[in-house]
Amino acid sequence: MRPLGICAAADQSLSVVKLWKGSPLSERLRIVGGARLVGEVQVTGAKNSVLKLMAAALLAPGTTTIQNVPDIADVSIMAELLTRLGCTVHREAGLVSIGVPAQPGHRADYDLVRKMRASINVLGPLVARIGEAEVALPGGDAIGSRGLDFHIKGLEALGAEAHNEHGYVIASAPNGLRGAEITLDFPSVGATENLLTAAVLAQGTTIIDNAAREPEVVDLGEFLITMGAEIKGLGTPTLVIQGVPRLHPTIHTVLPDRIVAGTWAFAAAMTRGDITIHGGRASDLEIPLEKLTSAGAIVTSTVDGFRVRMDSRPQSIDIATLPYPGFPTDLQPMVITLNAIADGNAIVTENVFEGRFMFVNELIRLGAQINVDGHHAAIHGVEQLSGAPVAATDIRAGAGLVLAGLVSDGITLVEDSFHIDRGYPNFVEQLQALGADVTRESGDLR
Ligand code: UD1
Repeated sequence: MRPLGICAAADQSLSVVKLWKGSPLSERLRIVGGARLVGEVQVTGAKNSVLKLMAAALLAPGTTTIQNVPDIADVSIMAELLTRLGCTVHREAGLVSIGVPAQPGHRADYDLVRKMRASINVLGPLVARIGEAEVALPGGDAIGSRGLDFHIKGLEALGAEAHNEHGYVIASAPNGLRGAEITLDFPSVGATENLLTAAVLAQGTTIIDNAAREPEVVDLGEFLITMGAEIKGLGTPTLVIQGVPRLHPTIHTVLPDRIVAGTWAFAAAMTRGDITIHGGRASDLEIPLEKLTSAGAIVTSTVDGFRVRMDSRPQSIDIATLPYPGFPTDLQPMVITLNAIADGNAIVTENVFEGRFMFVNELIRLGAQINVDGHHAAIHGVEQLSGAPVAATDIRAGAGLVLAGLVSDGITLVEDSFHIDRGYPNFVEQLQALGADVTRESGDLR
């Protein structure tokens, strides 16, 4: 596995956007701590799948329809990107349909890519389908940069010419792509997806070794198969793709969001609550749920999901994040927050994105006792945190800080809550329904 040090946190690409007075971006969440979360939530489609499915729709002219679409800001950004590429995007509750023209555009502009890194998922489909793509480099963010080298090297192996110019990746394959054997240095989710969506239209067979096995990659593969692609090995480290000359539009239902479901599971455990998570797939969360059980939670399956109940103060739990099926890095802020109020000491090791520890400074403002050393965080649990103003640095850190506010004494203000809206549909409303005292506020922080 590739060592840390070249990478940074996920999902924080909007953090480069400056706040300005009166902007919706200056919204915050106000949390009065102390509630025990009890009730039911509904989990909808996964952000990290739907965005890739929308990009992959470019592979076939005609109208592709995606169901179980979450109501989150990032879907609007991808819709805007596809519209600029000449697609007609229609959205209604839980559904998006994408009309793809015979000759889509080939350029993804910086203003959108910097807002949402998943924009780079149009790279593979565009090169495969029309033989050219210009996609802005996502660039740095508040806490570092994330490479695209695996994406580029893989496309080159498939016969594309690719280089960086004026802040864009410019890739072309005027005579089409051809199958190749590619071994990824690290099972990168984004690189696996870009190469998979390129290889489906390449001539001959492509083998991607050390491929990502995340459920969202499997969902993308299944979506491509319904479009006519020939893919074997989904969910294993070796994908074998037999290229086909063309694909056709499809209808597909997005898999449930395991990170949102996992966030609710941690919320139940942390607040000594009892939450039934409809639509959550426990099989996608085996290690997190096992860890919550060792923290003292009672996890049971239900007809359409699972339920997490906690009756006492959680016991601390050691975690190391890893690619799937390991503990997901996107739930790392939740596990650090749980440990911050747990009984005992814990070590959390981040193996995927080093910048993910940046939010720890915010937790320390709430009274958490945490020492970070390289990619390890040592946490000594305290009985209760103490409410204060803090700032979200990315989607998952934002959600983690809201959970921290729930187990804090007094009022916690989570500034820059637009990050949370990028990934959590109706977060405030669902929290309120579970009994939390959470409201939105906007304007200057006093
Ligand atoms: C996706 C998810 C993100 C999740 C992450 C890991 C989306 C929109 N985002 O991000 O929520 O936390 O998977 O599960 O789906 N890397 C390189 N070179 C590359 C590609 C990646 O060095 O060409 C490094 C990255 O810097 C990082 C590691 O590989 O250290 C993993 O990144 P990757 O799996 O690609 O994450 P994303 O697809 O960006």
